Amino acid sequence: MCGIVGYIGPEGAAPILMDELSRLEYRGYDSAGIVTLDGDGLHLVKTRGKLQVLRDRLARDGEPKGNLGIGHTRWATHGAPSDVNAHPHLDDQGRVAVVHNGIIENYQSLRRELEKEGCVFRSQTDSEVVSQLLARRLEKCGDLLEALTSTMGRLRGAYALGVVAKACPGTLAAARKGSPLVVGLSDHGNYIASDIPALLPYTRKVYLLDEGEIALVYADHVEVYSEWGEPVEKKVYEVTWSVDAAERGGYKHFMLKEIFEQPRAIRDTLNPRLRDGRIHLEEAGLTDEYLAQVKRVVLIACGTASHASLVGRAAIEQLARVPVEWDVASEFRYRDPILSPDDLLVVVSQSGETADTLAALRLAKENGCKVLAITNVVGSTIAREADRVLYTWAGPEIAVASTKAYLTQLLCLYLVAIEMASAKGRLDAATYDRYIRELQTLSDKAQTVLTSTTAEQELAKRFCHSRDIFFIGRGLDYAAAMEASLKLKEISYIHSEAMASGELKHGTIALIEDGVPVVALSTQGAVAEKLHSNIRAVKARGAVVVCIAYGDSSVEDGVADYVLYIPRTDDLFAPLLSIIPAQLFAYYCAIERGYDPDKPRNLAKSVTVE
Ligand code: AGP
Repeated sequence: MCGIVGYIGPEGAAPILMDELSRLEYRGYDSAGIVTLDGDGLHLVKTRGKLQVLRDRLARDGEPKGNLGIGHTRWATHGAPSDVNAHPHLDDQGRVAVVHNGIIENYQSLRRELEKEGCVFRSQTDSEVVSQLLARRLEKCGDLLEALTSTMGRLRGAYALGVVAKACPGTLAAARKGSPLVVGLSDHGNYIASDIPALLPYTRKVYLLDEGEIALVYADHVEVYSEWGEPVEKKVYEVTWSVDAAERGGYKHFMLKEIFEQPRAIRDTLNPRLRDGRIHLEEAGLTDEYLAQVKRVVLIACGTASHASLVGRAAIEQLARVPVEWDVASEFRYRDPILSPDDLLVVVSQSGETADTLAALRLAKENGCKVLAITNVVGSTIAREADRVLYTWAGPEIAVASTKAYLTQLLCLYLVAIEMASAKGRLDAATYDRYIRELQTLSDKAQTVLTSTTAEQELAKRFCHSRDIFFIGRGLDYAAAMEASLKLKEISYIHSEAMASGELKHGTIALIEDGVPVVALSTQGAVAEKLHSNIRAVKARGAVVVCIAYGDSSVEDGVADYVLYIPRTDDLFAPLLSIIPAQLFAYYCAIERGYDPDKPRNLAKSVTVE
């Protein structure tokens, strides 16, 4: 998704902007640009393609001068990826430059209105209306804050903006409504960025802009205003992530690094919550008293987080015997859901910025529900708007394909399920203790799965040219199969489907023919026999079967062609281990096919537009 950066201070802006942009590359983009300002005016360089194309352009033509500038990586929504549609956008007289994340919903009517006044547009983007409108307002009133508030009054939709104006050579302006934006504070200049990783080498002190806020950023101080132009007092937020955490640290790709960080992420998520043999979730207001009276849970998320929530649904229903509704946020928000103030609504989101999940949260709050957010990003919009927050301490997840966030989301949901069951008197002490002890072994067991990746590499070599790969399972294995299938398709571009294995005979088995790979997740003892019959049915039609199963299981007795082993755990926790070989398989399939798993086509790390 688009990235915004900006700098004002004693240094030349261009190299800093380029460095900040390189730290946002992981978000996915198709064009990039920067603009700087000095006594000669605005200097714009932008181009379709990766940052290297922009770097080559700067090397050829020279770096633009100026100690103030903004930059952008664009992920096309309105208008194709092209030089002219890349950001920054200038107004038709080159007075103002704007970078924009989000979508301006009423851009067509604004554009028509401006064109009638003689304004000439160069791009097909929705963003250009902002620079055109702002330049005209600034020309009239001569005050950047007033021009910004009145421009924002005309915009509908979601946006984060970075602005520089020829008439205000000492000011970098930023505004936020619906799209994240932070201001970085330091003694050697100040910064803006849509994402904290862009700022980590420069500062750990940030202001997290709230909805509608405008920042006027100067070289030596920052002023923040409401959308009505009133001054706002901001608290400085200290970022705890290290630069290393946001860098590859010797791994070839962020995705691989993050897969290998999972044992650590499990410990970081569990350890602060396990004390004296008990689960403690009071930090999120989840006291036993509160959990005991929950009558219904509604779990809402997108993508990988929705797959974690599927496991959460099973765990809560199975242990606490509380009905759980599950939906993907993009459906939930438009289906007029039945909600009651007694419901505990849980939104799960790694980034804490996903537009659909945020909209679902707001809808639930309008209906009087209490919202618990399970999220990875401290200070994210979802974290700030939820009533309660349970953080997944996975550390920064940079790769588009979510891995360690999934595992830590599962853990948070298991903790809620076990504690809710205990608070409701549905778990005897011995079973509670057994779960706690088992949770404490999961980090080591994940480490064991990661001891060797040879089997996954070999399978990837064998199957990377397949047209389709199916993932099957029953119960929690089916939930994990959905995540396994998403991992594979999003980075290797091999078509993949996950099926509840009992459903195969109702249609999908028609696609099974000689040589089609079927990955069967086989950890759920209660349905093992049923699953094995389903495996035999696909094998009889020529499928090549790979099982993911416990090391001590007997699944391989003639049923599977290959087996990827995981250490035995309670079946409830199996998705947390069985997904790891599937993540590695997906990663190596992408590598075998020559794709960069960190930059999957058409995808963005956080989806802040609908
Ligand atoms: C999967 O690997 C993706 N990154 C994607 O499905 C992601 O889980 C989804 O977009 C939701 O993002 P969130 O957790 O940041 O809300």
